[in-house]
Amino acid sequence: MSGIRTLDDLLGEGVSGRRVLVRADLNVPLDKQTGEITDDGRIRAVLPTLKALVDAGAKVVVCSHLGRPKGAPDPQFSLRPVAGRLGELLGAPVHFAEDTVGDSARSTVEALADGQVALLENLRFNKGETSKDDAERGAFADQLAAFGDAYVDDAFGAVHRKHASVYDVPARLPHVAGRLVLREVEVLSRLTSEPDRPYVVVLGGSKVSDKLAVIEALLPTVDRLLIGGGMCFTFLKAQGHEVGTSLLEKDMVDTCRNLMEREPGKIMLPVDVVAATAFAPDAEHEVFRADGIPSHRVGLDIGPETVAGFAAALKTSACGDPGNARTIFWNGPMGVFEMPAFANGTRGVAEAIAESDAFSVVGGGDSAAAIRVLGLDESSFGHISTGGGASLEYLEGKTLPGIAALEN
Ligand code: 3PG
Repeated sequence: MSGIRTLDDLLGEGVSGRRVLVRADLNVPLDKQTGEITDDGRIRAVLPTLKALVDAGAKVVVCSHLGRPKGAPDPQFSLRPVAGRLGELLGAPVHFAEDTVGDSARSTVEALADGQVALLENLRFNKGETSKDDAERGAFADQLAAFGDAYVDDAFGAVHRKHASVYDVPARLPHVAGRLVLREVEVLSRLTSEPDRPYVVVLGGSKVSDKLAVIEALLPTVDRLLIGGGMCFTFLKAQGHEVGTSLLEKDMVDTCRNLMEREPGKIMLPVDVVAATAFAPDAEHEVFRADGIPSHRVGLDIGPETVAGFAAALKTSACGDPGNARTIFWNGPMGVFEMPAFANGTRGVAEAIAESDAFSVVGGGDSAAAIRVLGLDESSFGHISTGGGASLEYLEGKTLPGIAALEN
């Protein structure tokens, strides 16, 4: 990140008594029934930056999105529960503003004492945050920027979004990168600039179309690409197998065939899958060969033989040379891990990565949540990114608006 000023630069100037606007990514998963936070990893990830500012006596104004509300207040996406959890983790109350840039936000920010923290309501309750219209975004950015004397971007998970709080506010305030953003970029750049080989990538998740750009970008550089999750069924179809009622993107079958032909032997697909009678936690299920999925069954996880094969590939090089994988990147669960009957594939792959000596990076979103939900030891992984889409776009080599804005 050339030319980017950092939190340490800002702290060096002194922030005591100054208002510092921090863009965080507090977009945490919530239990659909209870509304409780099911994984607070993203809240914990921003603590080093917030604590440093609090300790230095700044008035810290935190803003974030949560979910994808449609530009208007929507209680199911309120950040209020996040304010509570953030306060517990900081060991001090977090003052919650009922709106983002309205009366409540203004009075909350005005009342802050040195070393105190406020959290504004969901940025996406305002049309201007995500607007494609520069003027509309700019007008919202003006209102947000009025709450800070300086701006810190620590929302790595949102740096790929050209949104007001990510892209336009830094043009209006002295701006620096927070500790999390710096660490994420430092780690991901190890994957793009001459990674230690063998370099093995594991991709899962539901759709090929979501991952196509990153597959295209990674295929020439990796030694082996292991594919599981819902997206494996489109690849299996491209291999000529029937996939029952499993997730299938018909219009991507030719693309998948082309990818496999382009780099023969590099892409490794499941040889067996766990297929059920329905998409339900208690559905009857059994293991089938990948070329023998019955027409009335839906594949919900990779099978045990596939897990063993993937684990071996994570330990040995793609070409069969002796020696372990030296670099691993994993994004996307191998199955519907939220349902215990279909969590074994994700667990098995995660355990194989955790046991490997390789430098391993887990690319955010669902895979990071899976590690925590399955109770695996986070410290066994080299780095667990907080960015799902952001880490993928970084690896694709795209310009990330949030990083570009910090460079200016
Ligand atoms: C994420 O969950 O990847 C980030 O919080 C970004 O969310 P978005 O995809 O809704 O912009």
